[in-house]
Amino acid sequence: MSGAVDWGARAAALDAADPLAGFRANFHVPPHGDGEQLYFCGNSLGLQPKAVRQALLDELDDWAFHGVEGHFQGQFPWMPYHAFLREGLATLVGAEPSEVVAMNSLSVNLHLMMASFYRPTAQRHAILIEEGSFPSDRYAVESQVKLHGFDPATSLIELPADSEDGTVSMAAIERVLAERGGEIALVLWPGVQYRSGQAFDLREIARLGHAQGCIVGFDLAHAAGNLQLALHESDADFAAWCSYKYLNSGPGAVAGCFVHARHAHSEDRPRLAGWWGHDQATRFRMGKQFVPTPGADGWQLSNPPILALAPLRVSLDVFTRATMPALRAKSVQLTGLLEAMLRERLADTLRILTPADPAQRGCQLSLRVVGGRERGRALFEFLGARGIVGDWREPDVIRISPTPLYNRYAELPAFVAAVEAWRDGAG
Ligand SMILES: Cc1ncc(COP(=O)(O)O)c(C=O)c1O
Repeated sequence: MSGAVDWGARAAALDAADPLAGFRANFHVPPHGDGEQLYFCGNSLGLQPKAVRQALLDELDDWAFHGVEGHFQGQFPWMPYHAFLREGLATLVGAEPSEVVAMNSLSVNLHLMMASFYRPTAQRHAILIEEGSFPSDRYAVESQVKLHGFDPATSLIELPADSEDGTVSMAAIERVLAERGGEIALVLWPGVQYRSGQAFDLREIARLGHAQGCIVGFDLAHAAGNLQLALHESDADFAAWCSYKYLNSGPGAVAGCFVHARHAHSEDRPRLAGWWGHDQATRFRMGKQFVPTPGADGWQLSNPPILALAPLRVSLDVFTRATMPALRAKSVQLTGLLEAMLRERLADTLRILTPADPAQRGCQLSLRVVGGRERGRALFEFLGARGIVGDWREPDVIRISPTPLYNRYAELPAFVAAVEAWRDGAG
């Protein structure tokens, strides 16, 4: 053992005292050799809850036995299916039930929200995002700007990071809004930035944006199921997130969407409409006139893909049982333990880009290997060959995200030992 702390013993004690330890058994952890992977990639694709398989088989059975009547029969009739997810989803993101809906995918929901909430004028035409945003978000906002006949060169404001680690200070956000707020129609900001892992104070960003007359929306791809969110209180106008990362609902899972209650009855606001957003009471009268269901439901387009919603329903049940406050408490400890070990034992090898303040991060630590990109790739491949799974984001970032539902504290010393072995030998 090097140094004063016996990290292995500390991790074992934390595992022994972990009230959430039993949840790991609800997941399929991919095998590696005779054992299991050290899976730190919940920021990209969460692991499969074991109950998903049966939930899918149940839907196939309902289809086989009930045919079209499955819309009204079976354990979870398809007609109101999205409503079975509502409470779990609302609790997860800190929203009122009528403010959330599970539908589509993330980029689609961002476009639907922008169709309603990005209404540029000659004076107020710009969208503010962070520089280096996730490419899909950038493509989406750029295409929205163009769709409205504006030029991204003047109507897309990309706020650069103001630290060498790629993080953005609240002061920088405040400054750009003070200087250019009058031009900005929409602030579209991440809950957690995908490359740096930085988490933002959503309430404060919404306050600053609203003070300048901007609409404020959030991309919560890396925040949902990771941070304890209070979306209603944050006062955001809208938000959208995917469900395949921390929400463990499978590749391409059905996404989530939030529309603040103050917009629940804005029937006059333009929107891209479809029949599933029509008032449920009269939807099947098949009338010509679109009458939106109040709340987030009114933005649905199509009848939902039940086989894709079933895993999300199962996953939300797991979150309801575990509870977000308990998950977040464990997450702070897990990521804190990893950070402490890295600082003590690997400061010569790995630079942590993610903020040290637990309030400014979730599960993820973004790591840059000292010595440059090629060394980084070499370490990443070394780990992968040993069943240690994080992910790589260009140009030079390894993301490692211990997640409280299925990671154990004891996996962290094992990760650190593997990096040390690489540094001392193969590195
Ligand atoms: C921050 C962010 N925005 C958008 C997306 C795109 O998501 P989708 O392919 O589900 O539309 C992702 C995907 O990982 C993401 O991380």
